[in-house]
Amino acid sequence: MAVPDIKTALPGPKAKALIDRDKAFVSPSYTRGYPLVIERGTGATVEDVDGNVFLDCAAGIAVNSTGHAHPEVVRAVTEQAGKFLHMSGTDFYYEPQVRLAEELAAIVPIAGGVRSFFGNSGTEAVEACIKLSRYATGRDNIIAFLGGFHGRTMGSLSLTASKAIQRRGFGPMMPGVYHAPYADCYRCPIGLKPETCAAECLDFIDHQLFVHLVSPDEVAAIVVEPIQGEGGYIVAPDQFLQKLRELTRPHGILLVADEVQSGMGRSGRMFAIEFSGVEPDMVAIAKGIASGLPLGVASARAGLMAWPPGAHASTFGGNPVSCAAALATINLLRTQLMANAADVGAHMLAGLTQLAGKHPLIGDVRGRGLMIGVELVRDRETKERATDERDAVVNAAFRRGLLVLGAGKNAIRFSPPLVLTRDQADIAVRIFDESLQEVRR
Ligand SMILES: Cc1ncc(COP(=O)(O)O)c(C=O)c1O
Repeated sequence: MAVPDIKTALPGPKAKALIDRDKAFVSPSYTRGYPLVIERGTGATVEDVDGNVFLDCAAGIAVNSTGHAHPEVVRAVTEQAGKFLHMSGTDFYYEPQVRLAEELAAIVPIAGGVRSFFGNSGTEAVEACIKLSRYATGRDNIIAFLGGFHGRTMGSLSLTASKAIQRRGFGPMMPGVYHAPYADCYRCPIGLKPETCAAECLDFIDHQLFVHLVSPDEVAAIVVEPIQGEGGYIVAPDQFLQKLRELTRPHGILLVADEVQSGMGRSGRMFAIEFSGVEPDMVAIAKGIASGLPLGVASARAGLMAWPPGAHASTFGGNPVSCAAALATINLLRTQLMANAADVGAHMLAGLTQLAGKHPLIGDVRGRGLMIGVELVRDRETKERATDERDAVVNAAFRRGLLVLGAGKNAIRFSPPLVLTRDQADIAVRIFDESLQEVRR
C-alpha cells in the first residue's frame, strides 16, 4: 500500500457526514485538531472512511505501540475473547491478570519485588498511585510539576498543571497538592544554562516549598513524568531525576514515575526513567501497554502495596482481554520493538534536527526513541511561542497524509507506533519539511 495516499479533499464526503453526526451527539469537550475518521489501520498506516491512507505518527495519542492490528496482538485478543470477556479480577482470579503482574514485576525498574494494581486508564493508574502513597505513608500532601499532565479525574487533575482549560470550572481541586518548576532546559524556569546547571530548579522544593508551605515529613509523594508528554515532549536531564530521588529519600517521600506516555518501550528503554538509573517507588503505566485496549496499572515496591482487601479496586480493571493484549505487547516490545524504537527514533531525531537548519520556525528538537518533540518559535532569540503556526503545520501535515499531534502550547509530537521503519521515518520527515515550508509561505 502506498503511504500516504490522499485521494479526496479532506475531510472526504463520508468523513464529513460522520463528523456532522458526532457534532450533534458526542461531548464537545474533545479536542480534535483535524478531521480524521479512521476505517482501519495496519502497522503505522491508517486508512480513513473515504479510502485515504495516512502515515501515523500519532498512534492514538502514543498508544498503538505495536502498530495497528498487530497480528500477534489480534490473535491473543481473539483467543481470550473466545474464552471469556470479563469476570472481574477484583472478586475472582484468572491467569492473564496474574501472568501480567508477574511480567510487570520483571520489567518495572524497581528491585526486590513488585506488586501491581489494575485499572482501565492512565488517570486510574495515577489515582491508584496517589491513594497508595497516602495510605502507605499516612501523609496527605503530593508534589507535582508545572507543565505536567497526569489525567482528568479529580485526584490526577489536581496534579495536572498543563493547560488551564483542563482545570477551569472544575475547582476546588484536591487539597494538599503543590507544584514545582520542571526541568524545561530549552526554557529554563530559573534562567540557567543546561551545560552548567545541576538541576537547580529543584531547589525550589527544598528552599521554597519545604520552608514556606509544607513540611517534608507531611509529603507523601512526588509525582514526575521522566519525559513530560502533553507538556511538549520535554526530556528531563538525568541529573534532575537523580537529584529528585536524593531529595525524597531522607524525608521518606515516595517517588512516583508517571510513565503513562513515556513508558512501554517508546523511549527505546522499557521505561524512560531507566536512562537516569533512578529507582522510583511506584510507576503509573497505561497507553502503550496493551496496544490500544484499555488498561492502566500502578506498579509499586511490593512492601508498599500492603493495603487490605476492599481498600481499592475496579470492576473492569485488568480486563482479561486487555491483559492478553498486554502480554502479547510486552513480548513484542522485548523481542523487537523497543530496539526498533531506539534505532528508528535516533534516525528520525537526526532527520528532524537537520530540518532546523532550513526552517527558522524550529526552536528545539528533542526526544528519546520514538518520543520526539519539535518546538516551534517565531523568533529563536526571544523564543516567542508559535502556537498558530504549530496548528497550521499539524494541519498541513494532515492534508499531505501525515498524522501528528500538538503538545504543549507550541510543540509538535512524533509518537508513532514502534513498528515504524526507517523508510517511513524518512517519509514523515519529508512531509514535515513540506508542511513547514507551506506555513512559512
Ligand atoms: C503522563 C500521563 N499521565 C496520565 C495520563 C492520563 O491517561 P488517560 O487519558 O488514559 O486517563 C496521560 C494522558 O495523556 C499522560 O500523558
